[in-house]
Amino acid sequence: MSSNKALEVRNLSAGYGDANVLNGISFDVPPSSIVALIGANGAGKTTFLRTVSGLLPMRSGEVKLYGKSLGDMPAYKIVEAGFALSPEGKQLFPEMSVEENLIVGAHNPNARKVRDETKREVFDLFPILKEKRNDPANSLSGGQQQMVAVGRALMAKPKVLALDEPSLGLAPIMVDRLFESIERIRQLDLAILIIEQNVFQVLEMADAGYVLENGEITISGSGQELLANEHLKKAYLGL
Ligand SMILES: Nc1ncnc2c1ncn2[C@@H]1O[C@H](COP(=O)(O)OP(=O)(O)OP(=O)(O)O)[C@@H](O)[C@H]1O
Ligand SMILES: [Mg+2]
Repeated sequence: MSSNKALEVRNLSAGYGDANVLNGISFDVPPSSIVALIGANGAGKTTFLRTVSGLLPMRSGEVKLYGKSLGDMPAYKIVEAGFALSPEGKQLFPEMSVEENLIVGAHNPNARKVRDETKREVFDLFPILKEKRNDPANSLSGGQQQMVAVGRALMAKPKVLALDEPSLGLAPIMVDRLFESIERIRQLDLAILIIEQNVFQVLEMADAGYVLENGEITISGSGQELLANEHLKKAYLGL
């Protein structure tokens, strides 16, 4: 049992049709850490999160959450086990209210028991959502909708929170606020796995990062090490 690892990914392969997108990737997310997964468009970052979430079958390898194999669990069991995803593109129910969207996240039995308390935590984290709790999700700004998506994932009471490009499409000021919120979420005693095109900002914040290229992890290190890596500087930081 390796409960010192919040998430442990070993030799994971997955893909669509005949092609593998991921060819045996391995990495760890320690408890209470922020780990960034970096990669170009189409590298397979979303495919990875969909696979861990049980939305796409694993072709080989293993994923463990605090030592427990997620194996071929259905997606709802994986959420119940403690892995929640805030998906790329938010995927909110646009006509439903902010509060209704949040409640959708608390569907699993563990989360349902503490739903009101978690909702208060989410409102503390994102006060604007409390103000707009009865408004339809599609009436909110892009940044506020992203807060709903992150909040909905938190409502599942995860041990590992995965964020797929949370800053996509946000104005720079909103990106800064979102990153501040992520720093505060870290203090809720969970591990965060984050995918970001905002490579510089995410590595400044992350404890560790991994670079996904051609279906494999090609570079890994602390956030600071990756920021100093020559290949990364050229390929992802435009330096
Ligand atoms: N449903 C699908 N069916 C077939 N191929 C897919 C599907 N979804 C993604 N792909 C392909 O798999 C590869 C990886 O896509 P994926 O969305 O995981 O990349 P990504 O790293 O998340 O990219 P982005 O930065 O653009 O979000 C791409 O070549 C993509 O075209
Ligand atoms: Mg993606």
